[in-house]
Amino acid sequence: MTDSIICTPADYASIQRESQKINFSMPSDLQTGSLLRTLVASKPAGRFLELGTGTGLSLSWIVGAMDAKSSIISIDNSEEYLAIARSFFKDNSRVTILCTDGNQWLQQYQGDKFDLIFADAWPGKYSNLDLALELLVPGGLYIIDDMLPQPNWPENHQGNVDSLIALLEARTDVQLTKMNWSTGIIIVTKIG
Ligand SMILES: C[S@@+](CC[C@H](N)C(=O)[O-])C[C@H]1O[C@@H](n2cnc3c(N)ncnc32)[C@H](O)[C@@H]1O
Repeated sequence: MTDSIICTPADYASIQRESQKINFSMPSDLQTGSLLRTLVASKPAGRFLELGTGTGLSLSWIVGAMDAKSSIISIDNSEEYLAIARSFFKDNSRVTILCTDGNQWLQQYQGDKFDLIFADAWPGKYSNLDLALELLVPGGLYIIDDMLPQPNWPENHQGNVDSLIALLEARTDVQLTKMNWSTGIIIVTKIG
């Protein structure tokens, strides 16, 4: 089965152009975006959380699939990257972009839980995993990518990935599927 031609969201090409201008080197790929779009569309009136906004590439897929009653909080600690994301989403009242440390935010957040979390930064993935999973409603989805070796991985990163997978597999409150597709995606569902 080959991937069909993927129709990208409205602002995707413009965000990509701006990202290339600042040499943003960590973009999510088209398959991840397409998967996010499908999963987000399955959650009407959904509450979404993205850890690691970057310049807003994955955010554009998520926002493009959100219905009028859905909302997203997206977090990054780089104002340089967020300046690009903000320029595309600042007028969208359903989108909250926060420049803060993801670990601190996870430790302090007291609000409602989320229907889907895309954990695309160290916080909520390699650190504070428990806190991130705690923020999922039952039936909520936790998505991570870059689980297969990537050219931009830091040195000796395989051990981190192996530990993360082991932690997820040891949990009794989730069901997960590991996909050897895209950059290596794991879809986790919280069970009761
Ligand atoms: C893989 S990139 C995100 C890519 C983005 N989701 C996309 O689709 O292009 C990871 C992001 O995490 C951010 N980040 C790294 N450490 C962080 C932290 N402690 N708190 C918040 N964001 C962090 C980086 O600035 C970077 O933008």
